[in-house]
Amino acid sequence: MSRPEAPRFITIEGLDGSGGTTQLRMLHAAFLARGEACIVTREPSDGPVGKLIRAQLGAPPESAVRDGVLPYLFAADRRDHLDRVVLPALARGESVLSDRYALSSFAYQAEAHGLDRVMRLNQDFPAPHLTILLELDPAVCLTRILARGLPRDRFETLERLRTIQQGYEAAVRAVSGGAAPWNIVPIDASADVDTIHARVVEAVWPWRA
Ligand SMILES: Nc1ncnc2c1ncn2[C@@H]1O[C@H](COP(=O)(O)OP(=O)(O)OP(=O)(O)O)[C@@H](O)[C@H]1O
Ligand SMILES: [Mg+2]
Repeated sequence: MSRPEAPRFITIEGLDGSGGTTQLRMLHAAFLARGEACIVTREPSDGPVGKLIRAQLGAPPESAVRDGVLPYLFAADRRDHLDRVVLPALARGESVLSDRYALSSFAYQAEAHGLDRVMRLNQDFPAPHLTILLELDPAVCLTRILARGLPRDRFETLERLRTIQQGYEAAVRAVSGGAAPWNIVPIDASADVDTIHARVVEAVWPWRA
């Protein structure tokens, strides 16, 4: 079948350890194998505000900004990321695959800052054409995180992961209503990487399945 006329902005979401980065890399390879121009990016971004956020997430409490600052930093990074990376790539005709986007802000920051407030901070940003949401039990996420052996960040305890899972559920409900609902495809991420990849491919190119 024919190629999509327009490049697409696709985001991958899910709990830490749900396999987002793994699936993003595989999806990028699938795009390139089909001869479709495509870039991979992430949030927090690799721009100046994104670097500040990454430093803050690992910072000891005495040198970290107060928690109330983080939603503003994430929104500032998102504006910078859209202007610097996402929108120019789409304008060049390249699809963009982003490891996390605004849905992560809604899921991770709603508990501390209120979903309405976080959504207001992000109200100017475009919805992606497609959001893949990897769904996985928090206990399995934690097992994968621990097996990876890297330092754990502040979100990576079972209790936090459960809270964020509820945050994702509320966030999906919030962006699924209204005049311009987001296009979100939930995918069971408990299978092996190739099976999940096949499901992701089906969501991205449903007309070729
Ligand atoms: N389907 C899978 N089955 C088993 N292990 C997996 C699967 N997908 C990824 N993993 C492993 O789980 C770990 C987490 O995967 P990955 O880094 O892709 O997750 P993530 O969602 O990007 O996590 P984070 O948000 O913390 O970056 C890695 O060690 C990865 O190799
Ligand atoms: Mg990741």
